[in-house]
Amino acid sequence: MTGIKEKSILIEQRGAVALLTLNRAKALNAINDSIRHGLSEALRNVDEDPAVGAIVIVGAGERGFSVGADIKEIRSHDSPIATRRRLIPTSWIEVLDSTRKPVIAAIHGFCLGGGMELALACDLRVVAIGSEFALPETTLGLIPGGGGTQRLPRLIGLSRALDLLLTGERIDADEAFRIGIANRLAESSSEALAEALRIAEVLSTRPRAAISYVKEAARAGLDMDLASGLKLEKSLFALLTSSPDRAEAAAAFRDKRKPIFTGA
Ligand code: HXC
Repeated sequence: MTGIKEKSILIEQRGAVALLTLNRAKALNAINDSIRHGLSEALRNVDEDPAVGAIVIVGAGERGFSVGADIKEIRSHDSPIATRRRLIPTSWIEVLDSTRKPVIAAIHGFCLGGGMELALACDLRVVAIGSEFALPETTLGLIPGGGGTQRLPRLIGLSRALDLLLTGERIDADEAFRIGIANRLAESSSEALAEALRIAEVLSTRPRAAISYVKEAARAGLDMDLASGLKLEKSLFALLTSSPDRAEAAAAFRDKRKPIFTGA
């Protein structure tokens, strides 16, 4: 898999981590159909690949993660049916919701519109100082179409989300960290990538089922009432109690040695 180029997405395997690069640096990684389809396909492939335990997404070039949808590609004269046909299969962001492995965005520079929505759909965001976030869609006569109106309020609360959604104003990395968009800050783009890869590497060594179930419980639970969420947690917990990796973790603790997990 190393170094294979899939249209506008580069896929590189580093140990048990898959690094996906949005590869349109000249257009600041604006998301065109090629990126949409390439990213969906790449995510499905690496999620299925047993050699991969965690995923990092990064933008190519010095200037940013992504400036969002390719504005030059937004065709205002398409019929509603043609537009719907074009947008429906572009479940490029929704694919992240069904990805079982943890996905970390390593963000630098511009993180705007659909680029920010992509980042919001990831599990964690490591952000370089100098990054700028905004959802400027209303200034283009649109609203976010990649989950921004739904994921941002869930992540940072309705009040702060509406501020960003209504004004379209940019915020910097410090503010993104303060309000809970950024999980961690890094001094530079290379450090953001290094930190994202480091976290991914750690996660890739953990018992795979536990990592996938904890993500499922937290994410799915957010859309449930508390009682249903707790029920889901209990059933996933119960499944793990009989897993070989859990038994191995306990045995390794008893024997004072490093556990050898098999992902079972
Ligand atoms: C297509 C884009 C682009 C975009 C930049 N480029 N943003 N191409 N779509 N969204 C291209 C420029 O045309 C230019 O190509 C090159 O990238 C460099 O950009 P410049 O504008 O020359 O750079 P600069 O002056 O530094 O300004 C950077 C910028 C500005 C502030 C990021 O480009 C900008 O405001 N871009 C639009 C950002 C935006 O509104 N994004 C939201 C999109 S709507 P050339 O060939 O001319 O050199 C959205 C909806 C999501 O995302 C829906 C969900 C699916």
